[in-house]
Amino acid sequence: MSVRIEGDVGNPAEVIGRVPRRLFGSFVEHLGRSVYTGIFEPGHSTSDGRGFRGDVLELVRELGPTVVRYPGGNFVSAYRWEDGVGPDRPVRLDPAWHSVESNRFGLHEFAAWAEAAGAEVMYAVNLGTRGIQEAADVLEYCNHASGTDLSERRRANGADRPFGFKVWCLGNEMDGPWQVGHKTADEYGRLAAETARVLRMIDPDVELVVAGSSNAEMPTFGEWERTVLRHTAGLVDHISLHAYYQELHGDTDSYLASGAALDRYIRAVAGIIDEQGLGGRVGISVDEWNVWDQRRWNETDQARLAEEGWREHPRIIEDTYTVTDAVVVGSLLGSLLRNVDRVTMANQAQLVNVIAPIRTEPGGPAWRQPTFHPFRQVAALASGVSLRLNVEGERLRTAQHGEVDLVDVAATAGDSGRGAVFLTNRSTASPTEVRLRLRGARYGVYAAETLAAPDGETRHAVNTADSQPVRPVPLPGTAVTSDPGGTTITVTLPPLSWTVLQLCPEAGGHA
Ligand code: AHR
Repeated sequence: MSVRIEGDVGNPAEVIGRVPRRLFGSFVEHLGRSVYTGIFEPGHSTSDGRGFRGDVLELVRELGPTVVRYPGGNFVSAYRWEDGVGPDRPVRLDPAWHSVESNRFGLHEFAAWAEAAGAEVMYAVNLGTRGIQEAADVLEYCNHASGTDLSERRRANGADRPFGFKVWCLGNEMDGPWQVGHKTADEYGRLAAETARVLRMIDPDVELVVAGSSNAEMPTFGEWERTVLRHTAGLVDHISLHAYYQELHGDTDSYLASGAALDRYIRAVAGIIDEQGLGGRVGISVDEWNVWDQRRWNETDQARLAEEGWREHPRIIEDTYTVTDAVVVGSLLGSLLRNVDRVTMANQAQLVNVIAPIRTEPGGPAWRQPTFHPFRQVAALASGVSLRLNVEGERLRTAQHGEVDLVDVAATAGDSGRGAVFLTNRSTASPTEVRLRLRGARYGVYAAETLAAPDGETRHAVNTADSQPVRPVPLPGTAVTSDPGGTTITVTLPPLSWTVLQLCPEAGGHA
């Protein structure tokens, strides 16, 4: 198996766009054990005085999310933000996840946690059971300096200075019949437009995200975006896109092609933005993406919740990820990088316990799932500009997504002269030899790491609280060579693997 990849670092026409730092976002929802016993567990041996788990914060800082969406998700569509501020925290039912919400953790706690994690807050308002007034209230509470009832309440609750949250989501997945307060595109479009108008009056500096489709298979996909954008043109900065992928009926090849499916989904939404004359004015916020075995939620977790009754932070959607899942996450990150001309933000859903790169046990350890690694590597290494690459060679025929490249690739050229190449080998059976030629620069490889099935294990290998064998390891020297001129790099990718090459300029400069 072999593949040739070519790009031109020196040619501006071959640059897709700058890599936005907000591409490496994450998501914390009041769902299962994401907040409670996830990021927040008073009394845990590593927790600080605020109840923030120190072991989790350490892993989050290593992972490197730049922006974190909060408080939901489906949860937000029946949420009263006031419940999570001040000394009185009412206990309520959360209908979205059939759970009891104690409200011990809320707005101030999240703002403080995000600051400790070094991440920006992306705040979602409830446009399910609530509307314009409550959205305006929470923005005034958060971002208005002082002198009004709401801003003074914030100050009295301990935040003298405004939080200054910049990015606001106008509701969540309002196209989904499962959403509390689900709406038609026209109903939602009008509400989103009027909410956007007042939010901008209160704080002209906010960036607003209008809710797009929950997935590309929604019967309303396309028409939903057209209608919603017609209502909100000139009022919003981004439209959201949500995408989750899973391996169905043992069709591994289609699952491995998820990155190509995400490419098409993004380009379809970009086409609709252009059709509405909004190209360059409305970006795409992929504010929920990940791999997620939804059969477990539909077939097991929901039945268990119904049986167990209403409880606080039940264990739900705690997917245990495999090598294969990590490789697919790598290819989804590759897709985000290939589409930075249109994607302005993205959030992996979610951060801790719930379909997450980090898992915890209450009173116990925190650990890295296999999917932790590709996110960490891309967030740390992708910078500067994303390059357009030409891929030739072996292809993979899939049942769900047609024919795709056997090797999925994205590459970035950083301002410091360093580069990074991210490669997914979709062949489950064989290694693939990649010949990579980047014109316009002479690069040497100073680090090459791969994540594949660990020795003696299969693509189904997982990490647990006790042992984490799935992680990137250095590729053997024989698997990576570069020609003395520094123009061609040859790398042999193990079967079903995710590989990252870190490039540095070779003496001699440009090719
Ligand atoms: O991330 C889990 C759930 O998936 C979110 O609450 C919802 O927005 C989506 O359907």
